[in-house]
Amino acid sequence: MKYYIDFEPIGKRGRLSSEKLILDHARELGVDLVNICGGAGICGQCKVQIISGDASPLTTNEFGVLSPEEIAGGFRLACQALPLSDCLIHVPPESLTSPQRTQVEGDEILTYPVDPLIRFYSLKISSASVEDFRSDTEQLMEALHKQHQIKATSIDIKSLCDLPSLMHDGNRQTMAVVRDNEIISFHKSDARKIGMAVDIGTTKIACYLVDMETGRTLAAKGIMNPQIAYGEDVIARIGRAMEHSEALKLQKLVVDALNQSVKELCDQLNLNVAEIIEAVVVGNTAMHHLFLRLPVKQLAMAPYIPAVNTHLDVKAREIGLHICKGAYVHLLPNIAGFVGADHVSMLLALDAHNKKGVCLAIDIGTNTEICLINNKKTNHKKMTSVSCASGPAFEGGHIKHGMRASNGAIEHVHYEEGRIKYQTIGQMPPVGICGSGILDALAQLYKAGIINNSGRLSDDHPSIRNNDGQLEFVLAGKEETNNHKEITLTQKDIRALQLAKAAIATGITMLLESQGLSDNDIDEVVIAGAFGSYIDVASAVAIGMLPDLPIQRFKQVGNAAGIGAKAALVSQRHRKESQDIADRTEYIELAASTDFMEVFTKATLIGPV
Ligand code: FES
Repeated sequence: MKYYIDFEPIGKRGRLSSEKLILDHARELGVDLVNICGGAGICGQCKVQIISGDASPLTTNEFGVLSPEEIAGGFRLACQALPLSDCLIHVPPESLTSPQRTQVEGDEILTYPVDPLIRFYSLKISSASVEDFRSDTEQLMEALHKQHQIKATSIDIKSLCDLPSLMHDGNRQTMAVVRDNEIISFHKSDARKIGMAVDIGTTKIACYLVDMETGRTLAAKGIMNPQIAYGEDVIARIGRAMEHSEALKLQKLVVDALNQSVKELCDQLNLNVAEIIEAVVVGNTAMHHLFLRLPVKQLAMAPYIPAVNTHLDVKAREIGLHICKGAYVHLLPNIAGFVGADHVSMLLALDAHNKKGVCLAIDIGTNTEICLINNKKTNHKKMTSVSCASGPAFEGGHIKHGMRASNGAIEHVHYEEGRIKYQTIGQMPPVGICGSGILDALAQLYKAGIINNSGRLSDDHPSIRNNDGQLEFVLAGKEETNNHKEITLTQKDIRALQLAKAAIATGITMLLESQGLSDNDIDEVVIAGAFGSYIDVASAVAIGMLPDLPIQRFKQVGNAAGIGAKAALVSQRHRKESQDIADRTEYIELAASTDFMEVFTKATLIGPV
């Protein structure tokens, strides 16, 4: 039986030759699972979760090691379970010997005033008197007004539960945490003032803890979005979430992962999670809606209308986030069904509305969002955005030996004197090729004349062979790889890459055309996002994915969406600006344009357009 096994979020998948345990399948595909007991079924370190597909019955060892909840959730020990059908397997981060590469850093372009919506007021409430029949709340509000000239009008219901003991059992001293006119919490006077900024990407999640008094990032963590096992791109994820129960499951996966990350970050800083008094969350529109448990079905159908475009404030506890009980989550506004709050956050971080000249801001992912900021031919700033369905090829999806960026992934490729040279993540023997390597391979083989501009592989190079009727270029031989299997770039892979790069190039061309501009009018191309940080811009230009401009006009800025979320966390001004950006950015639906197919078809050609 040749079952197809897909290990997520690593993105390694393949049809394997013979009946084997999941652990052996993983090894064969170059997925390194922790196996301290060497597969004896006793250490419990090789835990995986079968999302779909059948496997052999649970063994006695598994009943001994796994909890009833884990068993109910589909968890198995990889060293004990034998696949009995095609399987989609989620590998938790702790079961991997080396972590996935996630990126949280970004260029701090903005200088922002620290002016959070949350304020802290130290209060001393006068002693109780038998003649004072006012409620605890009235006395508290009066103290706040008298001592700080602050008129609070409401108190969070959970915090209200803490008030009587504070007033009657305690020393009537506290630190009131006030947001707008609401008292959201009472803290000890020495409690830290911490905020949390989160960028929920389709593939990765970045989480930051920020000092609300200085705006300084205290700790950050990047994790894979656990929803990946339920669909690699937004459309697949929406398809899965059509059923309400599945949508709730997806929401819980992200929230649980966030709670876990926040707990770990707090432990690092010796903080209590209750000291986190505000959160800002950004994400594409689908991630935003799923996070809020909003329906997403309409996002997958033209005209792709979001349920809400404006910014929102919701209680963190309503979402399931375990931070300060009265805390709010502020969600930045969306622009359209496929241009979400993460795009707004990126534009905020780039200070887009104050940019001079013409700038293209791009965040490359399974869905690529591009904004053209044009201050050249109009006397008021114009921002126009599009969304391009670039698909999972640059994440290693639909590529024969593709994988996401983790140890052993070929991340850079160079062709020199008839030979391929490559660099892997972690300098490990190669196990597959990730997005930046795929982009390089295509550019290098094109520049060497091994691939022509229509994407056809030449058949007279010593590294090219015919495998089952399909041409493929051998990038790494059996003797070099970790699993003793060649890593190749196939003709089919090249076709997938052509479609991905054409989607992005089409977006850029049509944006420029909409403003009567050409490539040469562009003063700056800003590439944001994790994938954009690692790509070789020259390769992206060589294949015609990005405009053919002098290299110094390109700038790679890292996770700008995360930077924007942090700015909105500590600065009321930037929070307002984010809504202004969303209101002023015009959205163009590419597929609705009559010349879309013509531009797209032309853009599938490799080489500068
Ligand atoms: S390797 Fe130890 S339980 Fe599987």
